[in-house]
Amino acid sequence: MPRHYVMCPPRHFAVDYAINPWMDPTVPVDPERAMRQWTELRDTYRRLGHQVEEVEPQPGLPDMVFAANSGTVVEGRVLGAKFATRERAAEAEHFRRWFLEHGFQDVTMPQETNEAEGDFAWTGRLLLAGTGFRTDPRAHAEAQEILGVPVISLRLVDPRYYHLDTALFVLSEADDEQPAQIAYYPDAFSPGSQRVLRRLFPDAVLADAADAECFGLNAVSDGRHVILPVEATALAEKVAARGYEPVFVDISELRKAGGGPKCCTMEIRK
Ligand code: ARG
Repeated sequence: MPRHYVMCPPRHFAVDYAINPWMDPTVPVDPERAMRQWTELRDTYRRLGHQVEEVEPQPGLPDMVFAANSGTVVEGRVLGAKFATRERAAEAEHFRRWFLEHGFQDVTMPQETNEAEGDFAWTGRLLLAGTGFRTDPRAHAEAQEILGVPVISLRLVDPRYYHLDTALFVLSEADDEQPAQIAYYPDAFSPGSQRVLRRLFPDAVLADAADAECFGLNAVSDGRHVILPVEATALAEKVAARGYEPVFVDISELRKAGGGPKCCTMEIRK
């Protein structure tokens, strides 16, 4: 099944501020390299048969390349974002306009702080929702009300894994035949949330510290191919053992801002 993604080219990419432990403004970034890596990611999706649309990047918003943080779309309903940091606040409005210009009728901007797919992961049945660093737990209840899907709150405890999508991804969504399959790094979650995950996903792929440190969990799966950072070789073997096909991309330049393949990719589910 072809997927539909929205991405934003890193034309104004930079690390000018530090809002997560990966960002160090004293480490130089190579904008051309970032653009090449991003283009390779976009072309990888297209080669796999997926649709990619692009949002126009804006000067002064260096993190806008991380499109996943600007909207959550389930069954054509859009819940916009409200960023936790003032550095990124203006991104939400650009994406809201993009949704309206692209024919989405049901677009709601949130009252509570939510960084969209950074902290929300759709399993086909449930919306897994992270909190602890960015998204306010009150945004979980708001998402449930606006999107009309059951939300499961999960608490993140390690500042390096400040968004849910740095610690967990959905390998395949639930359908009438099978439950959803996910991969996650247990230590990124509070003890209670680890128990919730074990209960809901007893067959999950469990990642270790090395898998997480190279941003391996910031992967994108289309249910068959898993696009993940080149360094995530051990995690790739684990997903391959479950029948998925790993596809590697080099995102080293974007990782300097604390992002990976998933951060660059917002999924449209109609
Ligand atoms: N520099 C960005 C931030 O800290 C990176 C966002 C990464 N996005 C993600 N979905 N994890 O907000």
